[in-house]
Amino acid sequence: MMKAVICLLFCAAAVMAADKTAYDFTLNSIDGQPAPLAAYKGKVVLFVNVASRCGFTPQYTALESTYEKYKSGGFVIVGIPANNFGAQEPGSNQEIKTFCSSKYHVTFPMMAKVSVKGEDITPLYQFLTDKAMNPQTGGEIQWNFTKFLIGPDGHVIARFEPEVRWPPSNPERNTPGSICLPVNGRENHAGCDRQLQLAIDAAGPPILMPILSLQDVSKDYLTDGQPVHALSGLSLNIERGEFVALVGRSGCGKSTLLNLAGAMDFPTSGKVLLDGVSTSSLNDGSLTLLRREKIGFIFQSFQLLHTLTVFENVELPLLLAGKHNPREAARERLAWVELDGLGDRYPHQLSGGQMQRVAIARALIHSPSILLADEPTGNLDTTTGNVILELLRRLTREQNTATIVATHSLEAASLANTLMRLRDGKIEEVIRP
Ligand SMILES: Nc1ncnc2c1ncn2[C@@H]1O[C@H](COP(=O)(O)OP(=O)(O)OP(=O)(O)O)[C@@H](O)[C@H]1O
Ligand SMILES: [Mg+2]
Repeated sequence: MMKAVICLLFCAAAVMAADKTAYDFTLNSIDGQPAPLAAYKGKVVLFVNVASRCGFTPQYTALESTYEKYKSGGFVIVGIPANNFGAQEPGSNQEIKTFCSSKYHVTFPMMAKVSVKGEDITPLYQFLTDKAMNPQTGGEIQWNFTKFLIGPDGHVIARFEPEVRWPPSNPERNTPGSICLPVNGRENHAGCDRQLQLAIDAAGPPILMPILSLQDVSKDYLTDGQPVHALSGLSLNIERGEFVALVGRSGCGKSTLLNLAGAMDFPTSGKVLLDGVSTSSLNDGSLTLLRREKIGFIFQSFQLLHTLTVFENVELPLLLAGKHNPREAARERLAWVELDGLGDRYPHQLSGGQMQRVAIARALIHSPSILLADEPTGNLDTTTGNVILELLRRLTREQNTATIVATHSLEAASLANTLMRLRDGKIEEVIRP
C-alpha cells in the first residue's frame, strides 16, 4: 500500500516533469510586463542569457542578424539578461533596454533580468539546466551568452557554449557544439553559422499556428438594457501572409470582429487567440505589449496627428514604446509605401491617399504580425483606394503579415486571397480561391 502511494506521488511527479516544456513558464519583459512563453508555441526559439555592457556584447549584433535571417521561418531569439556573472551586468532593465536598442538596434524580444543559476535560479532556467530532465543539455551555466535551442514542441534540442574563437575567419578553431558569434562586430563565423543552421533544420519546421484564431466567438452589446448580438458563434483561422477581405452589409459585425482581433475589445463568450494566446487571459500590461508588438491598426479616417510631421507620426508608436532613434525604421516604412522624401511634411500638406499611406507606414513601424484595416479606402476615390489596396496586398506578401480589411469595395474583394462574408454576426461564406 505504502509503496503504491509513494509510486503514485513520485511517478506522477516524474510524468509531470517529463511533460514540462519551455511554454509552461512566464518571464517578465524588459518593460516589466508578464511575458508568457506560450506566445512562442510552435516556433524554434533560442534562449540566450545576454550580458549588458561588458564582455562580448557585439554578440548582440550577431544575434540580431541571425534573428533577421531566420525569423520569417518561425525562429525567434529571446534575450534574457542574467544576474550571475559579476561585472557583466551593471545595468538596470531600463539601462539594458536603452543600451540594446540604441547601440545594437536589437529587435528580438528582451526579457527582464533573472538569475540563471544558484539558489534563486528562475524556474525557466531550472528547467533548461536540469540534468535529470535534459541529460544532453543540462548542467550549470558557466558564462553569459550560453544558448538553448528549443524545438516547436517546447523541448530543449541543443545547447551552445559561449565560446568565442579568434580569428572568426578560421573554421578550424570552431568547436563542435558551440556557436561562436563574433567579437568586435565582425562577420559571422561561417562554421558557427552553419551549426546553428543545422540545429534549426534539425528542430524541424515550426508548427505555424494561425496568427489569429476565433473559436466560437459571440459578442453582445447592451443598448438600453437590450442585448445586440453583434457576433454569434463565429469561428475562423487566419494565417500569416493571408490577405482577407471582410465584407457584408452595414451592421453585420465587421468592425466588431476587427476590434476583437486587435484586442481592443473582448468576446462575450468563446476565445480570441493571437499567436496562440487568448486575449481574455491577459492583464492590462500584457495587453498593451501585445497590441504594441503584434497588431497594426489602420482606420478609415487615417487618425494622423496634425501638429506632427510625417516622420513623427510614423515614429510615434516606437517613441511611446520607449525605443530610441526610430528615424531609420520610419524612413524604411515610408519607402515601403512609396513616400520617400515626404517625411518632413505635415499631414495637411498631403493628399488623402498619401495620408492613408502614412497611416499604413505607422501601422507597420513595429513589424506587426497582423494588420487590421477598417474601411481604409472609405474616404478615398476609387483609383486612390485601389492603389492603397494593392499596396496592402504587396506588403502582406513581402512582410508575411496577415491582413484583414473590412470593406465595402468590390475591388478589395477581388484583390484578396480570402473573401469572408459576414451576415448578421455570422460567417455566411469564405472563399479561398
Ligand atoms: N458600442 C456598441 N454598442 C451597441 N451596439 C453596437 C456597438 N458597436 C456596434 N454595435 C452594433 O453591433 C452590430 C455590428 O456593428 P459593427 O460596427 O460591427 O458593424 P459593421 O459591419 O462594421 O458596419 P459598417 O459597415 O456600418 O461599419 C450593429 O448592430 C451595431 O449597431
Ligand atoms: Mg464598421
